[in-house]
Amino acid sequence: MRPTILAIESSCDETSASVIRQGKVLNNVVASQNVHQKYGGVVPELASRAHQQNILQVVNEAMASSGTKNSQIDAIAFTRGPGLMGSLLVGVSFAKGMALALGVPLVEVNHMEAHVLAHFIDDPKPAFPFLCLTVSGGHTQIILVEDFLKMKVLGQTQDDAVGEAFDKAAKIMGLSYPGGPLIDQYAKLGNPKAYSFSETVMPGLDFSFSGIKTSFLYFLRDQKKNDPLFVEKNLNDICASLQSKLVHMLLKKLKLASAQTGIKHIAIAGGVAANSGLRNELKATAQNLGWEIFIPEFQYCTDNAAMIAVAAHYKFLKEQFSELDVSPLANMSVGG
Ligand code: KG4
Ligand code: ZN
Repeated sequence: MRPTILAIESSCDETSASVIRQGKVLNNVVASQNVHQKYGGVVPELASRAHQQNILQVVNEAMASSGTKNSQIDAIAFTRGPGLMGSLLVGVSFAKGMALALGVPLVEVNHMEAHVLAHFIDDPKPAFPFLCLTVSGGHTQIILVEDFLKMKVLGQTQDDAVGEAFDKAAKIMGLSYPGGPLIDQYAKLGNPKAYSFSETVMPGLDFSFSGIKTSFLYFLRDQKKNDPLFVEKNLNDICASLQSKLVHMLLKKLKLASAQTGIKHIAIAGGVAANSGLRNELKATAQNLGWEIFIPEFQYCTDNAAMIAVAAHYKFLKEQFSELDVSPLANMSVGG
């Protein structure tokens, strides 16, 4: 059977719905929450309230714009973590209600596995096995992807995620949330070699981003003692130097993972995969090392329900359904 599935994503601060039919994603409706900007980060209670306000409209739009009737739906999919509990609860409750009303099965999806499967929304699609660097506001992982639903974490951050490092550095500089895209924008105009920051070196394929955050904080504090307008005067160079360092830290481990596994099919996923510095550096490395690289379209890098829909499609084919009493947060092999 080639199913029609409605997928819902609500793990953090995007409320999203998507319909997939016969393995083809028909749309990706996303309502972003601007309410967090003035707080410099996602406020969980505000996020769950905003999901509650947005979800019906987002789902209705996904159904209408794909021309899907309730009677055509074969399953309802939802993100079952990792994510914010209050946010996940809105998605899982909505999905359960709809599955019960329509008499169709529920399909739970791991958010981090879905970020990897965003590579199967459009062409070109990577062949198995491939390595995926999944970089978001909550996670930094190198994943060995052996099949649609067979993934293994080879290395991951032991503290902050790289997206968090971008966002916290931006906050220290007084930039608004989320700071990652802003740093990316200013970095394009700056000198990446202007300043250097020290990192905590981790063994093997693991990462640590808390050291560079502290180094960045102290660097700015010292510079501001001499010149209170240091950040304003040198914003482009500071952003370029920080971004270059973070990108270098990611690529160092990705190269190591490729050398250790012998795999040269390399993908990136998650919100930070939108970073132009990372994309450019990845392209340059691919040329040097003969990698074939895969970078999803921007809308499929950040949180979206299309990736949940693809994951749900493959789970449906394997009849991996969830019970109606499933809890909103799973114990997970990837991302948990
Ligand atoms: O995957 P995502 O949308 O949500 C999570 O699951 O976390 O990732 C959001 C993260 C934020 O930290 C945001 O600052 C970062 O992705 N991000 C970027 C860029 N666009 C989004 N970081 C650096 N450069 C960008 N262009
Ligand atoms: Zn995400």
